[in-house]
Amino acid sequence: MKKQSSLLVLFLSLITLSTSAQTYNALRIPDTLSGTTFNLAMKDTFAQILPGNQTITGGINANFWGPTLFINKGDTVHMNVQNNLNDSTTLHWHGMHLPAVMDGGPHQVIPPGTLWQPYWKVTNDAATYWYHPHLHETTEEQITKGLGGLIIVRDSVESALPLPRTYSVDDIPLVLTDRDITTANQFSVVPYGDSMMVNGTLRPQYTIPAQVVRFRILNGAIERSYNLGFSDSRTFYVITSDGGLLSTPVALTRYLLHAGERIEILVNCSGQSGTNVFLKAYNSTLSQQTPGGDLFPNGPFANYLARIDFNILRLNISNQTSNPITAIPTALRTVTTIPAANANLTRFLTISDTNIVGIPGASFLLNHKLFNINYNNYAVPLNNTEIWQITNSGNFGHPFHIHDVEFNIISSNGAAPAAAQAGWKDVVFVPANTTVKFIAKFDDYADSLHPFMFHCHISLHEDEGMMGQFIVTGNNPTGVSEITNEESRFSLYPNPASEKLFVKLKEEYEGIYYLRLTNSIGRTILMLPRPQIENGIDISHLTPGIYFVQVTDEKTLKTTTQKFIKQ
Ligand code: C2O
Ligand code: CU
Ligand code: CU
Repeated sequence: MKKQSSLLVLFLSLITLSTSAQTYNALRIPDTLSGTTFNLAMKDTFAQILPGNQTITGGINANFWGPTLFINKGDTVHMNVQNNLNDSTTLHWHGMHLPAVMDGGPHQVIPPGTLWQPYWKVTNDAATYWYHPHLHETTEEQITKGLGGLIIVRDSVESALPLPRTYSVDDIPLVLTDRDITTANQFSVVPYGDSMMVNGTLRPQYTIPAQVVRFRILNGAIERSYNLGFSDSRTFYVITSDGGLLSTPVALTRYLLHAGERIEILVNCSGQSGTNVFLKAYNSTLSQQTPGGDLFPNGPFANYLARIDFNILRLNISNQTSNPITAIPTALRTVTTIPAANANLTRFLTISDTNIVGIPGASFLLNHKLFNINYNNYAVPLNNTEIWQITNSGNFGHPFHIHDVEFNIISSNGAAPAAAQAGWKDVVFVPANTTVKFIAKFDDYADSLHPFMFHCHISLHEDEGMMGQFIVTGNNPTGVSEITNEESRFSLYPNPASEKLFVKLKEEYEGIYYLRLTNSIGRTILMLPRPQIENGIDISHLTPGIYFVQVTDEKTLKTTTQKFIKQ
């Protein structure tokens, strides 16, 4: 919907605003899952976003968005990701430190009808992370549909602090996005929407208790940044950056949150029962060079939220709960950042424009190149501590994201990071004509086959090729996995099998890097990165017939195949 229909909607909403205060919808709160095994089914579906036609959406165990996953630092978590979409996809665990083969980037494609089973030991600190599709050139479309979810990591440091942590009561997830909705109530795949949404809810309101409330805020938008603040300009306290708690709560009245970033904030509503306040985006102050501040008279970038202040969420403050948190803590934890002197390498990256203004068809370049999935930008030696220095010579700012690591910002335009950014981050905004430096340590996971990604987190830019990749090199073999004709290094039993299939490795074999199960016409059914095969592979859900198991050897990265019959 551009121009005329949008004008109509704007007009109608102005009327409703002036005639009624009852036009708010109850904020949806995503369901939760916890434990160590998570079943996530991605599907094409419908949601009642507006009265009338349902909206074609994507959901994960839901009809828009997915469950919030609670995981504990130190646990090993197992994900059963079932792709029931009509298209291939991937599922990326944004911010998680894990093996590249489990990362869910563009190389870990899940074909339709396939179950993908990554697992990893959680080493991230307590904070809010998220998961979302990452299939190259399809990310914007699949995120627009609503595919994604939050991850809340808990650890003993955070758990010992007097912080609100009752989900949906005093600890509230807010996934910020905006959408363009057609007159037939469908989402358009465009970078900027005309309608603000929180957790998939238009014009949301929510009731919170009159005490200290924690909001976990994700900028899940395709492109827009949100300059967050409250309608009474009250102070709020930022307690996390993307990847963990800050050392102390940082008192602010505005925070500019870019695509992909998360903050957790505390707001003290003690004694305010019976009042209300709006969380707003104060985007009227943004420049043409900041996502959401850029004005376009028409075309796909034109939108009604550009460079204005708008409401995000109405908060109705009500009675206190029992045992409320009523004070903002003065200290959170000790944050030990990586000293710049620890770096053994600096990498110099560039961001540049191919056109002066972001006219449709324009691309932004990383290192003067468009992404090529077969080109590896960097080989990072395992355990390197590196400074990444990113110089944006272009006329637009970009939120830069890297996989695998959390980093510390060293400087932006020569200045040390603001207090609320002085912890662990995985996205950093690189403003126009600015240089940003961060430092990170690349430990634990080397893999010569599966790279990690770095990219602009504006999904439109990422899909257009503003992305690169690196492998972390260790002492594992290099080279590509080949399917060979040599004698298989494994055998399968029982064969035929009905419930469980066991893999027996020949002696010299060190382990399985990858196991893929395909049916008789070559369709992938099951993908097991680095499978733990001691307990066998559950094949009870397969229809009877002939199947093939492809096993890639951990040591040589060679792939051999065996057939089995499912009874
Ligand atoms: Cu949240 Cu590579 O992305
Ligand atoms: Cu990521
Ligand atoms: Cu960008």
